[in-house]
Amino acid sequence: MNPRDRLILALDVPSVAAAETMVTRLGDAVSFYKIGYQLAFAGGLALAERLVRANKQVFVDLKLHDIGNTVAKGVESVAKLGATFLTVHAYPQTMHAAVDARSGSNLRILAVTVLTSYDDADLAAAGYDFTVSELVAERAAQARDIGIDGLVCSAEEAASVRPIVGSSMALVTPGIRPAGSASGDQKRIMTPAAAIAAGADYLVIGRPILEAADPKAAAEAIVAEIANATR
Ligand code: C5P
Repeated sequence: MNPRDRLILALDVPSVAAAETMVTRLGDAVSFYKIGYQLAFAGGLALAERLVRANKQVFVDLKLHDIGNTVAKGVESVAKLGATFLTVHAYPQTMHAAVDARSGSNLRILAVTVLTSYDDADLAAAGYDFTVSELVAERAAQARDIGIDGLVCSAEEAASVRPIVGSSMALVTPGIRPAGSASGDQKRIMTPAAAIAAGADYLVIGRPILEAADPKAAAEAIVAEIANATR
């Protein structure tokens, strides 16, 4: 894989205008964009279609979870946008519906095992009799058996879920910080090189690029670090 295509820029900005300004500034430095709640609900899905037409790849990060029929219809609509990745929560019914609905399209489904803001106490409060690491392992195995295309996980989790899911599933990891950049609210961070070494296929990075004085140079430096780590 081209190192550049392994960097996914999280377009966490408040408006389509701000997103378009950033995409223009980044130019050829970034080929893959993630659109989440903030931008999707502010006109970002029309932008997704425009990015696809401009030969960019798009990750729609809306973490779907509903009855199977509703998930399937939503997945079909996202496939029509031309997106490359879509997230769903890793519940078996939801994953089955999403995998069936994406067949015949280029869309690939990523499962979120356990939100990284959850700890064991949060799971207990939600009624689960599992620790986070037990539930991540259980859901990773279910995702594999159902035919999910990849998982979103922390770079730390990548090493432990890789033996479960094998080499054909993509591991997409946020919480990445180039050496010397602010961690912000991310608690468990890894450098791009360390995340690649831990088994990540794609790195989702937002603020270290969005808030850089020169976002294009910041993106280029990360792509260079990915290239070095895969050499
Ligand atoms: O700005 P930063 O690099 O922290 O952005 C990381 C992106 O990855 C954000 O869009 C965030 O919502 C997303 N994300 C995350 N942790 C997860 C899942 C997604 O930070 N566990």
